[in-house]
Amino acid sequence: MSGKEVKQLYHVYSARWYDAVKRLWNWLVVEQAEKELHDFLAKNVDDNKTVLELGCGTAANLEAMRSLGIQFKEYRGLDFSKDMLHAQKCRQTFLCRV
Ligand SMILES: C[S@@+](CC[C@H](N)C(=O)[O-])C[C@H]1O[C@@H](n2cnc3c(N)ncnc32)[C@H](O)[C@@H]1O
Repeated sequence: MSGKEVKQLYHVYSARWYDAVKRLWNWLVVEQAEKELHDFLAKNVDDNKTVLELGCGTAANLEAMRSLGIQFKEYRGLDFSKDMLHAQKCRQTFLCRV
């Protein structure tokens, strides 16, 4: 899939529904993998660490770290889809600097 096709995939409509679809997908299909990711983050991230997420999308993983109470020094998310970055909570954060 080309970069253009990926950007089209996550264009406004998908970006708007991404978080809700992800929650359902995680619950139905990848619950264990999601739990392992959260365990990994809890073990390896602390308030001295900067987290760099490549392909951060709507920053759902930042939200997950916050809701799990995982402390971190800084979070930087990189994504080439402005629609994903600008969806929902990203509007309020530094992530909007594309
Ligand atoms: C399936 S989403 C995952 C988003 C987030 N990591 C999560 O777990 O919710 C994949 C994201 O990667 C981004 N992406 C894919 N290829 C990329 C590339 N070459 N450079 C930057 N972002 C990319 C897409 O725009 C999309 O937002």
